[in-house]
Amino acid sequence: MHDTLIAGPAKGPLAGKIFLPGDKSISHRAIILASLAGGISEIHGFLPGEDNLATLHMFEQMGVHIEWLNEAKTDLRIYGVKLHGMKQPRGVLDAGNSGTCARLMAGVLAGQSFTSTVTGDASLRKRPMRRVAEPLRRMGAHIEGCDGDGRNGGNLLPLSIDGGSLKGIHHVSKVASAQVKSCILLAGLYAEGETRVREPKPSRDHTERMLPLFGQPLHILGDGSISLKPAGHLTAPNRPIHIPADPSSAAFFAVAAGIVENSEISMDGIGINPRRDGWRRILDAMGAAISVENESAVGEEPVADISVCYGVMNGIRVNPDDIADAIDEFPILFVAAALSDGEFFLEEAEELRVKESDRIAAMATALSACGADIREHASGVHIRGRGRIKGGVTIDAHGDHRIAMAMAVAAQRATDEIIIQDAAAIATSFPDFVPVAQRLGMNVRWA
Ligand code: S3P
Repeated sequence: MHDTLIAGPAKGPLAGKIFLPGDKSISHRAIILASLAGGISEIHGFLPGEDNLATLHMFEQMGVHIEWLNEAKTDLRIYGVKLHGMKQPRGVLDAGNSGTCARLMAGVLAGQSFTSTVTGDASLRKRPMRRVAEPLRRMGAHIEGCDGDGRNGGNLLPLSIDGGSLKGIHHVSKVASAQVKSCILLAGLYAEGETRVREPKPSRDHTERMLPLFGQPLHILGDGSISLKPAGHLTAPNRPIHIPADPSSAAFFAVAAGIVENSEISMDGIGINPRRDGWRRILDAMGAAISVENESAVGEEPVADISVCYGVMNGIRVNPDDIADAIDEFPILFVAAALSDGEFFLEEAEELRVKESDRIAAMATALSACGADIREHASGVHIRGRGRIKGGVTIDAHGDHRIAMAMAVAAQRATDEIIIQDAAAIATSFPDFVPVAQRLGMNVRWA
């Protein structure tokens, strides 16, 4: 297994047109709803990364039949078993590194009349699950988690979920989290009565866009709450579900083109859902040369062709309203900021500390090791751009795919190569990152 990346500096401009893999968040939702629907769903453009495969394997363990339609594992057919058609899994369900898998599946499992246990890797076992366990308990599920010392009675994975007989709740979430919102809406499919979810700021809305496609309507109320009155069944759509290219993957190459002199790249069919488009608004505000053309739709999601040219970026103060819409892109945005010609301020982004790693600390340590001027504080960072960073250093990606890819991009603008350790998790979201990056001319390889 590859674990160490050797990256940078770029040997020349980055150029070309690339096609990026399917959206990770939408791929999770497509598997979940297709498995719980009556009928056969066909999915095209699926992301066969480790995170999505974890979700898929859980359904296989519970008796859902899945058929691959191509060798690349981007197209598949799911034989849905209906909301109540799953079998109790024999073993523990393993979400691996995937918070989306663990939290969304907790909602699904809370609705089942059997007991199941969900676990994850060392990183996921440290991430907060109370945010889903507490509302699911209020809906009537019995959930036992660990307390971090391996004792019962806490809210960390492994979670043992004893579901069935749920009732609808009105949940006001403290965090803007699509994982929390989606977990509760999925449990709401099984509940008696209406389920409502309200969040402090809107988060990605892929679940809300996809549920009506499967025959489950939702309503947005005056206060912004999402209301679900369970239809009692989901039905496979009578046309294939197409998944757009992942904007979170596009952001790495957008920044790569923006920082390497004379680069020009284009990426077709990238998701531009406004709840995922914060990275583009932030780079735009920093003066990046990004153009968006051919806006259209793939399934329920807006897409466009995005081109990016090299150009010196300036600093900004990130608008707190953009944070949820760019939540996964801050590692690569910190790279853009460190290589800009200005000051970058981010506040109110404490959620970054509970992602696959503590992304504020991990990026501050990695970029500082490369000579960047980055200071962390409780809820964000202050970065003074320096136009270039130094290489000849070894940094730790902390098993976080986005830290590894962000630093591989940063290295393109370093004075010497950078060694990135603990980078194998790239396979969770973008197994082909290295060959795609090489095709554009990026200097990156597995050790
Ligand atoms: C995701 C939601 C976000 C995001 C994650 C994917 C999803 O997490 O960071 O990578 O697919 O719902 P939160 O909901 O915890 O913010």
